[in-house]
Amino acid sequence: MNIKGKKVFLRALEIEDMEFLRAMINDGEMEHNVIGWSFPVSKYEQQKWYENTIQNKNNIRFIIEAEGKSIGLATLTNIDWKNRKASHGIKLFSDDIKCKGYGTDTVMTIMKYAFEELQLNRLYSTILEFNEASRKLYKKCGWTEEGIIRKSIFKNNNYHNEIVIGILREEYELQKI
Ligand SMILES: CC(C)(COP(=O)(O)OP(=O)(O)OC[C@H]1O[C@@H](n2cnc3c(N)ncnc32)[C@H](O)[C@@H]1OP(=O)(O)O)[C@@H](O)C(=O)NCCC(=O)NCCS
Repeated sequence: MNIKGKKVFLRALEIEDMEFLRAMINDGEMEHNVIGWSFPVSKYEQQKWYENTIQNKNNIRFIIEAEGKSIGLATLTNIDWKNRKASHGIKLFSDDIKCKGYGTDTVMTIMKYAFEELQLNRLYSTILEFNEASRKLYKKCGWTEEGIIRKSIFKNNNYHNEIVIGILREEYELQKI
């Protein structure tokens, strides 16, 4: 099932999306803002990643579409079906689509799907302390900053604090629009 938000559309990854995703993972600014890291990714590695990833239903990834084009990637990963929780991530790629509410609508749409369709009970993520855009986005969507993992991520010759964030289904129910 494709998932419709108010402004965004979430759909499955296609092989044709791999160049877009490869450009995103190879982008230095993106790497600066997110916790994962990667060596430069080749076309071959990207294709192999796609073949592995589509088979794993404990890690679901969606292309985010808006304005008639692909604008980013949203994820529900490490889905724990017993304890009803999953990790969530979002990446919007290209400056001209940022600060237009697409991030907010994507997170709200992912929450609706995770809580109302997959029957999960908790979503969580970790973000870099200096990532103001991300902190504001999740706060706006009702998430709580639950703790700090000190000096946990090494980037740009410095250790950075990682902030654990999360939202429970009951909290989502109270503030969903
Ligand atoms: C974080 C990200 C998803 C936000 O998406 P977005 O579509 O720009 O966010 P929205 O337009 O929905 O804005 C949400 C809130 O964050 C604020 N915000 C967005 N970008 C901001 C920035 N660079 N600095 C400060 N605040 C920012 C907005 O003003 C808004 O708050 P407001 O309504 O109170 O004004 C996007 O910047 C991104 O993909 N960044 C790179 C990857 C990344 O950091 N991913 C998250 C890793 S955990």
